[in-house]
Amino acid sequence: MLVLGVESSCDETGIALYDTDHGLLSHALHSQVEMHAEYGGVVPELASRDHIRRVLPLTELALKDANKTLQDIDAIAYTQGPGLSGALLVGTSFAESLAFSLQIPTINVHHLEGHLLAPLLEDNPPAFPFVALLVSGGHSQLMRVDGIGQYELLGDTLDDAAGEAFDKTAKLLGLGYPGGPALSNLAKTGKPRFKLPRPLLNSGDLNFSFSGLKTSVLTLVNQHQPLDDETKADIAYEFQEAVTEVLTIKCMSALRETGLDNLIVSGGVGANAKLREKLNAATKRKLCKVSYPRLEFCTDNGAMIAFAGAMRLKDMQSNTDKNYSFSVKPR
Ligand code: KG4
Ligand code: ZN
Repeated sequence: MLVLGVESSCDETGIALYDTDHGLLSHALHSQVEMHAEYGGVVPELASRDHIRRVLPLTELALKDANKTLQDIDAIAYTQGPGLSGALLVGTSFAESLAFSLQIPTINVHHLEGHLLAPLLEDNPPAFPFVALLVSGGHSQLMRVDGIGQYELLGDTLDDAAGEAFDKTAKLLGLGYPGGPALSNLAKTGKPRFKLPRPLLNSGDLNFSFSGLKTSVLTLVNQHQPLDDETKADIAYEFQEAVTEVLTIKCMSALRETGLDNLIVSGGVGANAKLREKLNAATKRKLCKVSYPRLEFCTDNGAMIAFAGAMRLKDMQSNTDKNYSFSVKPR
C-alpha cells in the first residue's frame, strides 16, 4: 500500500510517500520559518496562504522523487489536528479532494501520533512496548506505548510545554524565532554561573511544569540590565540545563516505573543536543536503549504523517466507509 502523507498544522508544509512494503520513498518539506521570523512568531493567516502555495508543487516533487504517479497512491493520510484551523484546513481540503477524485480512502492523523511514531521511521526501530517522551512546541508528555493506538499517558505538563518554554525564554533573551534552536545555540557558549529551579523534580509523579522557569529567567534578566552577551549565554546555558535535566530524570523514572527498557524521544525539543547527550548517558548507565528520529523528523514533516497513516491502515483501523465530509480539530 502506498500512502501519501500531508502535514500542514502550523508553519511547515510536508508531503511524503510511505510504502508499507518498502518504507519511506520520498518526502518534501517547506518551512515558513523565514516568512514568520520578522513577526517574532507564526502569523496564522500567512501560514494558511503559504500552505496553499506549496501543497501542490511539494506533492509533485514527492511523486517525482519516488518515481510514482497519483494513480499509484492507495490512501491519503493527513493531519486533522491539533494545529491552526486555517492551516489545517488547507491540508485537509487538499487531501480529501484528492482522495475523492482518486476514489481512495483517507486516514485522519492526530499530529501528536505522527510525532510519537517518528522514531520508528529509522533503521532498527524499537519493538513495542516502550516509553515515549513527546516534547514539542505544544506538548510535553510521557507515554507508555504498547502498540499503534495503544497509548497510556504517564505524565503531562501542568502549564507550558518544553518547546514553548524554550521559545518564551528565547524571547526574554531577545533571541529570534524559533527560539529553541537559537537558545540552544547560544547556550553552547554559556557557563554554569546561575542556578535555576528544577520544577517538579521530586513531585513523585511524571508531570512537568515549565512556566515557573520562565519567570525565574525574567527575574534574572531584570537583575542584570542591560544584558550583556556573556550573561545572556550563561542564562541560556542554565535554562537548558534545567529543562533537559528534568526531562531526563522523569524519563528514567518512567522507565523504572513501567519496568520497560526502551525509550523513544520525539517532537521539536527532541532535536536538542544537550537533551540527547543527557538521555544517552542516563539510559546507558541503566542498560536501557534510547531512539530518536533523524533531526529533520523531530520537527513537523509529512513523513511522520504518512507513516502514522500507514500504521493505522495496517492496523485495520482506517475509516474506509467514507461520506466525504470533513472537519479539522484545532485543539
Ligand atoms: O514538534 P514541533 O515542530 O512543533 C509542534 O508540534 O509543536 O516543535 C517545535 C518546537 C518549538 O518550540 C521549537 O523552539 C522547539 O521545538 N525546538 C527546539 C529545538 N529545535 C526545535 N527546542 C530546543 N532545542 C532545539 N534544538
Ligand atoms: Zn509538531
